[in-house]
Parts: sequence; structure tokens; C-alpha cells
Amino acid sequence: MKIGFIGSGLICEIITQNILNSGLVKAEDIHITDIFKARENEMHERYGLTVAASKIDVIKAADIVFVCVRSDNAMDLAGELREIQPDFSNKVLISISSGIPMKLYGDIFPDLAIARALPNPPSRIGHGVVAVAFNKNVSDEQKAMLMQLFDSMGKAYMLDEEKINVATATTGPAPVYAFFQAMVESALLLGIDYKSASHMAFGTVEGCLKVWERQIDDIAGLLRETSTPGGISVRQLYALEKRAFKAIVKENYEEGWSRTKAYSDAIRESLKK
Ligand SMILES: NC(=O)c1ccc[n+]([C@@H]2O[C@H](COP(=O)([O-])OP(=O)(O)OC[C@H]3O[C@@H](n4cnc5c(N)ncnc54)[C@H](OP(=O)(O)O)[C@@H]3O)[C@@H](O)[C@H]2O)c1
Repeated sequence: MKIGFIGSGLICEIITQNILNSGLVKAEDIHITDIFKARENEMHERYGLTVAASKIDVIKAADIVFVCVRSDNAMDLAGELREIQPDFSNKVLISISSGIPMKLYGDIFPDLAIARALPNPPSRIGHGVVAVAFNKNVSDEQKAMLMQLFDSMGKAYMLDEEKINVATATTGPAPVYAFFQAMVESALLLGIDYKSASHMAFGTVEGCLKVWERQIDDIAGLLRETSTPGGISVRQLYALEKRAFKAIVKENYEEGWSRTKAYSDAIRESLKK
């Protein structure tokens, strides 16, 4: 399998590290191109990737072409591809640029197999959640190969494209880190030193995750188990309920989703012009 990258910035590096660690692809079979030439050299020096002379050369060499330019550069890149008209036969283009619909490339190359993928930040260390959508031209065989590739970054989930915007909100780590921080500060408030509070909060989260993993589809059952009638846990849950804890969590996801959707809708509108 040969891979190409148009844009060799941070996300290209994250995907590259995971793919190389998985042993699925050899470094020299990864071809890159970037308008920032010093970055191409850096990626060659660091990982032994092949620097291609042009976008056409990357596309010619690769079975899978990742587009890893920033979202505000994606329109220009699509214009460039429209001009150079590369031969995409039997290849898959994967757009990583956040919020950019597959339609941007599909309108120019109607027969092209296109995927859109959203790896979340823990993908950096191979523990990511990767939301992936495919257009109708991607074969089952190509889907299976790509899901294996994305599993190298953690765990990949296949969704309809509209749901990718939802995944942007639900797989973002910020609200999770905010909850961890609140746990640490709560222990601090009650007199435990910062270091102990951090390590105890971490241990609690880690232990809870392991328990959850054993009955992953039954979070309500876990809460039932921990809720002794009249006990401490039910009092704590009552305090969360009084402040509409779940509603706040849901609102933060909805906010993230609507911001991403507004961005995608604006791109779709500009494609109509
Ligand atoms: N980083 C993440 O963890 C992550 C996760 C999920 C999704 N994403 C998405 O992935 C996209 C890229 O993010 P990133 O963090 O990798 O950005 P980045 O580090 O800025 O890398 C993008 C690279 O593409 C180059 N480039 C821009 N236009 C180009 C063109 N027409 N042809 C070739 N190269 C071009 C840029 O060069 P210049 O700097 O000279 O413009 C830059 O070196 C964004 O939309 C981001 O939202 C990132």
C-alpha cells in the first residue's frame, strides 16, 4: 500500500507516526508534498518519507491520498486540482480538513472515491477516536482497508457524513479535561494537596473506565450499583441533578456541534456560488 499526503503539517505527522508504528506501510512508500518546503525536508529527515516533486507525483505514486491542508486552504487546493486534473483512477482521496464536505472534491471529480476523516487529539498517542465517512464511490474492499488504517490511530467509527460534525463535538477532549480539572479542584477545596488530588482523580477515572469497559453498554447499571439507598453516592448525584449537570453537558456538545455545522454550511453555500 502506498500513501500520499498533500500538506505535511501536524496531522500528517500524527497519521504518519501511527501508520509507521502499525507496520502497515514502509516510510519510503509515504510520499509527501507541501508548499512549505522546509517542512517537507523535516518530515524526510525525521521519518524517511519520500518528498515528491509535485502534487501530480504524489497522486501518481499513492493508492490513498490524504489531503491535510488547513480548512481555509482547502478551497484553493480544490481549485488547483481542478486545473491540473490528476488521474485519480483506483485511488481514494481522504480529506482531513475539519468541516470541509466531500462535495468540495466530488463536484470536480464525480467518480472519485472520497473519504472524510476526523481523528481526535488522543490519536497522537494511538488512543484516538476517528470518525470516518465515505462517498458512494468507495468500494467495500477500500472501506475495510481504510478502517484498518484508521484503527492504527485508536478506534475508527464509520458514520454518515452529516454525523461527522456531531463527532467533532462529542470526541473533543476539552469537556472531559474540564471535568478532570473540576475533580482535582474539588479535592483541593476539601484539603487534599494538589499532587495527591491529581493522582487520586486520575486513579479514580482510570479505575472507573476499566469497570465501564466490562459493561460498556450499561452505564445506567453502573450508577444503580453505586447507589445505595440513602447513601453518599445518591446524595452526590442529587447535588449534580439540582444544578442540571446533564443538561450542561448536553448543552456543551450541542454548542460544539452547532459551531462546526455552521462552518460546514458556510462552505456548502460557497460551493453553490
Ligand atoms: N492537528 C490535529 O490534531 C487535527 C486533527 C483533526 C483534523 N485536523 C485538521 O487537519 C487540517 C490540517 O491541520 P494541521 O494541524 O495538520 O495543519 P498544519 O500543521 O498547518 O499543516 C497544513 C500544511 O499544509 C500546507 N498547505 C497549505 N496549503 C497547501 C497546498 N495548497 N498544497 C500543499 N500544502 C499546503 C501548509 O503550509 P503553510 O503553513 O505554508 O500554509 C502546512 O504546512 C485542519 O483542517 C485541521 O482542522 C487536525
